[in-house]
Amino acid sequence: MLKQIDAETLRLWLEEKRPVTIIDVRNEEDRAQWSIPGSLHINAYEALKASQRSALSDAILPIGQPIVTVCNAGKMSERAAEELASRGFEVLSLAGGMTAWSLSWNTAEVALTYARVIQIRRAGKGCLSYLISSHEEAIVIDASLPPDVYRSIAESRNLRIRYVIDTHIHADHVSRSRQLADAVGAELLLPPQSRVRFAYRPLAAHEVIAIGTAKLEAIPTPGHTMESTAFLLDGEGLFTGDTLFTSSVGRPDLHADPAQALTRASFLYASVQQLLALGPGVHIFPGHTSKPPPFDGVPVSERLDVVAGRLQNWMVSEEAFVKRILAHIPSTPPNYERIVALNESEELPIGDLTELEAGANRCAVG
Ligand SMILES: [Fe+2]
Repeated sequence: MLKQIDAETLRLWLEEKRPVTIIDVRNEEDRAQWSIPGSLHINAYEALKASQRSALSDAILPIGQPIVTVCNAGKMSERAAEELASRGFEVLSLAGGMTAWSLSWNTAEVALTYARVIQIRRAGKGCLSYLISSHEEAIVIDASLPPDVYRSIAESRNLRIRYVIDTHIHADHVSRSRQLADAVGAELLLPPQSRVRFAYRPLAAHEVIAIGTAKLEAIPTPGHTMESTAFLLDGEGLFTGDTLFTSSVGRPDLHADPAQALTRASFLYASVQQLLALGPGVHIFPGHTSKPPPFDGVPVSERLDVVAGRLQNWMVSEEAFVKRILAHIPSTPPNYERIVALNESEELPIGDLTELEAGANRCAVG
């Protein structure tokens, strides 16, 4: 009988630091897109597909700990598991493969003066969402995981989620902010725009939201999208969405024609300059990371002076920035138009969204 492991159980194993050997049997191209941190790669996909019985015969594997085989959707990993099981290994196939893994997550925490920041990292996509808490109150920014993830984190710490915020209308993942706000009775706050067709409270420029003794200021940062907004927490933490990352900036071209992309790139230059001027010691908390974050508890964050140093060749002048950014636009992510349509729709998205969202993150330029 073939044994499987579901994505949530494997997630818990990694969180608990249980010894496990993860073998990724996908081809080079798929592996290069994204992978489970710490996994081994054996390019056995074609051999497994051709039902070659010794597809993994060269593999030297540790004994005494379980092996989990992984592929795109959980079919070839079953064949790999069968082969390794026949050689006496204790082996499980990841049910649903990397598609199922795309909803996996882990956390990292930072204590600031008035608030605690929990960075909730969607391992598959590199999407970073945040639960900011102060005195039993909490705000969630850019929810990208099912509402129960945020609800269980809040409940385990006796926190009430009062507000749910999106930094902008996302194109890489289906926002779960509406569902989360509904599920926990929180207020949904969004940057003002006429894109979405559902009810929300628009955030005024420089509006300050109080949470416990902490204060979060909305700072308009058009560029990646025109409604993009960053949030400054007590002058210490800066939630930048997809405007500014730890060593790159957001792409200005999605859902835009070339003329709009040019305009947005100009806006982005001014927005990035504005953020970089907020103070060298401010820590940025971006909306994405280019690689799936490992289960290491280390936050994806950087001081603004370090970020400024990394971007100094970009920020020479607006003209140079625009020229450079438009020359470095990465390929368009799959399904983004359908994802944007869902994020703007009056209807709540239903069903399994992981197939739509699967794949690497391509929000950054640089
Ligand atoms: Fe984005």
